[in-house]
Amino acid sequence: MTSPQPRPAVIATPFDRHGSITPAELEALGLSGDAIVDFSLSVNPYGPPPGVRAVLEAIDIARYPDPDALALRRALATHLHRPLSQIIVGNGSAELLWLIALAFLDAGHRALIIGPTFGEYARAVRLMGAEIVTWRTDERDDFAIQPDEIAVLLAQTRPKVVFICHPNNPTGRLLPLQALARWAAAHPATLFVVDEAYLPFAPNAPTALTLDAANILVLRSMTKVHALAGLRLGYAVGDEAIIQALRRVQPPWSVNALAQAAGVAALQDEAHLRTSLAKLAAAKEALLQALRAQGWRPLPSAANFFLLPVDDATACRARLLEQGVVVRDCASFGLPRHIRIAVRTPAENECLLWALSKVKKCLE
Ligand SMILES: Cc1ncc(COP(=O)(O)O)c(C=O)c1O
Repeated sequence: MTSPQPRPAVIATPFDRHGSITPAELEALGLSGDAIVDFSLSVNPYGPPPGVRAVLEAIDIARYPDPDALALRRALATHLHRPLSQIIVGNGSAELLWLIALAFLDAGHRALIIGPTFGEYARAVRLMGAEIVTWRTDERDDFAIQPDEIAVLLAQTRPKVVFICHPNNPTGRLLPLQALARWAAAHPATLFVVDEAYLPFAPNAPTALTLDAANILVLRSMTKVHALAGLRLGYAVGDEAIIQALRRVQPPWSVNALAQAAGVAALQDEAHLRTSLAKLAAAKEALLQALRAQGWRPLPSAANFFLLPVDDATACRARLLEQGVVVRDCASFGLPRHIRIAVRTPAENECLLWALSKVKKCLE
């Protein structure tokens, strides 16, 4: 008997594994979510701005959200010094990645992904039946981007879209923006998507928004830095024609009313952002120092997370889970000997250090 079949590209697209532990995994392990500290989730551990909760209470959830997200886009326009027409908001920046694929990729097109990186770029490309070209950074090279090698690959493969993460998940490396400017100028028909989901955690790192090229689209997440992951909120900034194309393929009302209002409130509370990021930067330095003192070799990172080389990432994650902490096993990034750790508050980081010291003892 024949049954309804999805498109071949859908069947060929596997699920991607993400960081945070799921309720299903917790249940299978007989653990309670309250009993673990999650270092696999790279969000601001100081939480959303305190005013956000009161704003959410006032929302009439019986009404549809504004399909144009006007108040939020106006707040973003002021914040970014960009016209409204150059901004689109999404149900998390993940939705915007999918809209880019839907609007710009088709079977027969190529997309270049600079890896190892966030798995949703590849998933969105595969779903459209387009071909993935990958250029991977190398651990022996500290995961640095080699602009000349990428320039050659761009000339050879002429991709329709390029996905670059700045700073990169999971390596924490920044993209050299001069190289991006050169690539974008040499390939005006290619859309360069720069995912800046973690850029606010990298103090003083330059943004691709300063380049202002018509074929560069910058993605930002409001779920990480403003700790709104459960509400889902992100935005993209770029040329008006590109933003229009994304709006054409966006499902109606995809950004709910609570997320829109929370976004406006979060943008208003600059003090909470400043103080939480300063505390986080200090916590990161202290954690890195303590890890080195324990004999670990954390890799340098511009972001709020970093890679830690281990013998076996999957086994290490499982052992740490027994001690009540979750880290990201990087095997799905093609890094089976690295775990990714997001920095949390000093008290939570102490739990991690204690758990890692136990794991280290059983490795010795
Ligand atoms: C690099 C990167 N980009 C985008 C996202 C999606 O973030 P969100 O949809 O929550 O904005 C993630 C989530 O982990 C990520 O790691």
